[in-house]
Amino acid sequence: MALSLVIQMRDPVTGLTLRLYYGVFEKEDVITRSAEILNETAGTVQLHKALSACLDIPFGDWELIHFPGRHCMERQAERRKLMDGIQKISSRRGSSSHQHNPFAILALPETSEDYGECLGAMLVYSGSFQIEIEKTQMRAVRMVLGIQEEQFLWKLERGESFVMPEVLLSYSGRGLTGLSHNYADFIREHICRGKYKKARRPILINNWEATYFDFTAEKLLDIAEKAGELGIEMLVLDDGWFGRRDCETDGLGDWYVNEEKLGGNLNSLIEKINKMGMKFGIWVEPEMVNEDSDLYKAHPDWALSVPGREPVMGRCQLALDMGRQEVQDYLYEALRTLLSEHPIDYIKWDMNRNLSDIYSRVLAPERQGEAGHRYILGVYALLERLTEAFPDVLFEGCSGGGGRFDCGMLCYSPQIWCSDDTDAIARLKIQYGTSFGYPVSAMGAHVSACPNHQTGRSTPLRTRGVVAMSGTFGCELDLALLDEAERQEIAEQIDQFKAYYPLIQWGDYYRLTDAIADTYFTAWQFASKDGAEALLNVVVVSPQANPTPIHVRLKGLREEAVYLEKTEGKYYSGAALMYGGFTLPILKGDYPAVQYYFVKEGSE
Ligand code: DGJ
Repeated sequence: MALSLVIQMRDPVTGLTLRLYYGVFEKEDVITRSAEILNETAGTVQLHKALSACLDIPFGDWELIHFPGRHCMERQAERRKLMDGIQKISSRRGSSSHQHNPFAILALPETSEDYGECLGAMLVYSGSFQIEIEKTQMRAVRMVLGIQEEQFLWKLERGESFVMPEVLLSYSGRGLTGLSHNYADFIREHICRGKYKKARRPILINNWEATYFDFTAEKLLDIAEKAGELGIEMLVLDDGWFGRRDCETDGLGDWYVNEEKLGGNLNSLIEKINKMGMKFGIWVEPEMVNEDSDLYKAHPDWALSVPGREPVMGRCQLALDMGRQEVQDYLYEALRTLLSEHPIDYIKWDMNRNLSDIYSRVLAPERQGEAGHRYILGVYALLERLTEAFPDVLFEGCSGGGGRFDCGMLCYSPQIWCSDDTDAIARLKIQYGTSFGYPVSAMGAHVSACPNHQTGRSTPLRTRGVVAMSGTFGCELDLALLDEAERQEIAEQIDQFKAYYPLIQWGDYYRLTDAIADTYFTAWQFASKDGAEALLNVVVVSPQANPTPIHVRLKGLREEAVYLEKTEGKYYSGAALMYGGFTLPILKGDYPAVQYYFVKEGSE
């Protein structure tokens, strides 16, 4: 339930009308705001800037928390004092990007996880964006956010209107954890849609880090068979199954099955996988094209590129002009055929380059400033059609890992691959940063092989499991290379994850340490909303000789209740766990991890 408010204003000088839309979501403590500009004048108007919201705070020594990063290192939370003047967080990359996230928090200096005031602003938008924060001469703070203005120019004809992306505003007077809970609750309830908003999502195994492009049907069946034995519920066939796609240079755009590579048709592969009791999912990257593809040969003008100039390549590929209706129609038809002719349960929707040469061959020169925004509207339009036509298919977003991790994409895919870095220790920071604004149910996380393919680091299998469980949990490794004991351990992790699923996906998430500043260990916790159960997770990041005890205070419990900790079979009062705390035994070795499960007496 939400209350809506529309404020309409007319500018007597230009004759333009502005409508401000507010939604008040009392339960989650979120106010949504978007704006629409209507041209009811006699002529054409040019919009040079289209920002969604402006927040003026007349008092307070606010600090900024934002989420910078890079590929394989997304959303590294950073907190700093505001300087006098304007500071800007933005993406000019055509997507929300690995480098910045369309989310920022203002917090007072004394604000911590559990105490103090903070304000959040998050764009429901996946394209180039900007968030400007200005500290004025009078110590006031102004935050303005919306579509990135540098590449933007929109011609608004008479009678047309332009809608600016929605912003989610929230306030917490009880610290950063409270703000994160507001966003997590709101996104789970009002942004994510479709069947998998509430239904448990299948535990998947993805073949990417197991095989990369080098797979055969036999290999895939072997992975699926071994995975099924462990309790994994779906095989996801990643990049390389279509066109002439055996490496990065070829095939993107040609969304027909490479039967030669699969040694048969896709349906016979899926049938065998289904017979093992497993679902089947597949990878696509619809927005892109390789020059070496049938699609590019037939429609070179469908790619974004500036006439007369060599386009800049990214991962050997070009981006299609997603704003064009015929491009959307071609992709819809290709994906509709794929999904209707094969029993596919899941789509991983990837996007592996930043946009450059943002020039559309169908827009007049003076309209080129529209191409970037039209691109992302085209992506949404295509996803809208597909998710409506195939409501049972689970979509997972991806962009070279978490390069488009935002609420725009979460409207279509309730989970997004969090990062291409699957190293459990690096993931602690990435998932920590992501948790400030997004629910754990949105974070794609997998157990992968060691030494890790991105960092070369080795971590215990248990640690990889504990970290992946604080996300959607899946596997991405060649199970044939594991020994029996390791496979058994994964099977146990899967059983645990299934048992903890409602708590992890629907409970409240608590950051117990600062994953960036606290270098000894990282601790985090889940508590069910009714305080009936809790799961404590600790990973030692840097083991000490003669170690200081690891002592954590739990959160979200009921003071007066008695809790049984299942591993050691000991009883504690909620007050003791929250105010006295819980001391762990000494943990030695490389990156050990532990989990403790607490259940309230009488609620088992
Ligand atoms: C980038 C993704 O993040 C990876 O998981 C994988 O799907 C590759 N693309 C495939 O090209």
